[in-house]
Amino acid sequence: MPALTSIRTSEGKLEIVNQLLLPHTVEFIEVSTIAEAYDAIKSMKIRGAPAIASLAALAVADYLTQNLQRASGPEWFGSVDAFREHVNVILTYLFTARPTAVNLGAATRRLSRKLQSSIDAGKDPRAIAQDLIAEAKEIDAEDVGRNKEMSKHGGEWLVERVKSQGGSGEGLNVMTVCNTGSLATSGYGTALGLITYLHETGKLQRAFYTQSTPYHQGSRLTAFELQSLNIPSTMLCDSMVGSLFQHHNIHAVAVGADRIARNGDTANKIGTYNAAVLAARHNIPFIVVAPVSTVDLEVADGSGIPIEHRPAIEACLVRGALYPTTLDANGVKQQATVMVTPEGLDGVYNPSFDVTPASLITAIVTEKGVAVKKEGEDVFDLTPIV
Ligand code: MRU
Repeated sequence: MPALTSIRTSEGKLEIVNQLLLPHTVEFIEVSTIAEAYDAIKSMKIRGAPAIASLAALAVADYLTQNLQRASGPEWFGSVDAFREHVNVILTYLFTARPTAVNLGAATRRLSRKLQSSIDAGKDPRAIAQDLIAEAKEIDAEDVGRNKEMSKHGGEWLVERVKSQGGSGEGLNVMTVCNTGSLATSGYGTALGLITYLHETGKLQRAFYTQSTPYHQGSRLTAFELQSLNIPSTMLCDSMVGSLFQHHNIHAVAVGADRIARNGDTANKIGTYNAAVLAARHNIPFIVVAPVSTVDLEVADGSGIPIEHRPAIEACLVRGALYPTTLDANGVKQQATVMVTPEGLDGVYNPSFDVTPASLITAIVTEKGVAVKKEGEDVFDLTPIV
């Protein structure tokens, strides 16, 4: 099976795999306008904190490239002020597509800073556009390398920790939540990268992953990735985490992050907090794996992290392939969306993320290393790993 990817750029086209159709149909769709990029992020055709930041950056690069290629450039290329205003409107618009993942804001802010520094350097709009295109491509490209670094740091740390407690450091069982692999990033993944690293180095026995309802990032996307990587794995419903910890020897829980506050409080997919509470109860190390750019030093603690609430209808629906499998005339698996609740529910609680307090987190891993709390402290000093 070819390596999974969330974004591809070839022959001047920017395309994403439509994650709403995975795992049953692998369909790439072109993203040729800023509005299409915004819609793809908002509707979760693409999701995962690093991946949405990459798409936003690449969409800006694509848009500027298209305009540079036009014989007579658009009006806003006419003056530096008009150019600045036009690009900043686009960056602000993309930034509002999803509020919790800090990576999206970090990417748009980084492009905005590049815009200003190129202006300050006295460049004309065409040269500034080239600078922005290069910066946007850099945002996307740097993701894969850093994922491999953090996965190695986290994997080695876990092996040593298990050994320090009398274990062999082999045959490890690691549970994860949501999808943090190639589909959520530009490649390899964060928490799923750690699991992949353990598998590649012969230390993993089995990966466990929650379904991660209501969007099913676990049962649709992580399942698909683990299958394609040939990693032994077991799916469980979100409500079964406590039972898993009671009946199986789980060596660690590894999760990604959408935003990490200065004290280590971490926003991640809804259900992460439940897993952390249960992990603490069972003395299982709880590891957050994320790039430095996920740490938001401007937010002191979890109470300052904006939490996205998704539309109520999304929690009432399940999307998937018809079962038993039915193929359409083109041999493609037919898919359907079905409602699992009565219509017109009085109330639906549907936050997309929750915040796990630092006190429940054993280690935070970035590409720069591993942070643990000092003895007796409830919060992290993240300075060494940001
Ligand atoms: O709503 P999603 O699917 O975008 O949420 C994704 C997560 O919560 C991931 O765990 C997080 O973004 C880290 S992805 C490397």
